[in-house]
Amino acid sequence: MNSTWHLYCVALLLALALGQSNSSQPIVGHKYFVRLVNNINDRDVLHFTCRSDNDVIGPHELAPNQQWEFGFRLSLATEFQCDNWYQSSSGSPNHTVQIVAFRRDDVPSYGGVHAIWSARDTGMWLYNSHSGQYTLKASW
Ligand SMILES: *[C@@H]1O[C@H](CO)[C@@H](O)[C@H](O)[C@H]1NC(C)=O
Repeated sequence: MNSTWHLYCVALLLALALGQSNSSQPIVGHKYFVRLVNNINDRDVLHFTCRSDNDVIGPHELAPNQQWEFGFRLSLATEFQCDNWYQSSSGSPNHTVQIVAFRRDDVPSYGGVHAIWSARDTGMWLYNSHSGQYTLKASW
């Protein structure tokens, strides 16, 4: 191996290491979390089931202002989809929506290792831990 090539390899490894230390980039093997919070109103129960290729979480019910969190180790293909629904006590129809609750490519928009979802009467809002902002991702 000539020394220019060697130097190139060292520089590449260093760049990868620095890139990985940026917490907004997903790291395979590290622990990540999905959290769902029922912020619909003070009456209605949120129902959800989350699925990946390997796991099914739920069905679960969340009373108003309750939350549920699950964790997993990131693999290259990790993706969780969640089906959410609630039946409004005011009698309106069943509200349903599906979200991609976790996807490796979306980790920067979580702002950390937690994908935090707030269910509201408008839909499912994603929290960014870095900016402190919620964004509406899916309407009922
Ligand atoms: C609402 O819709 C979901 C998804 O289709 C379904 O699983 C659930 O049973 C429905 N709930 C009611 C009360 O109809």
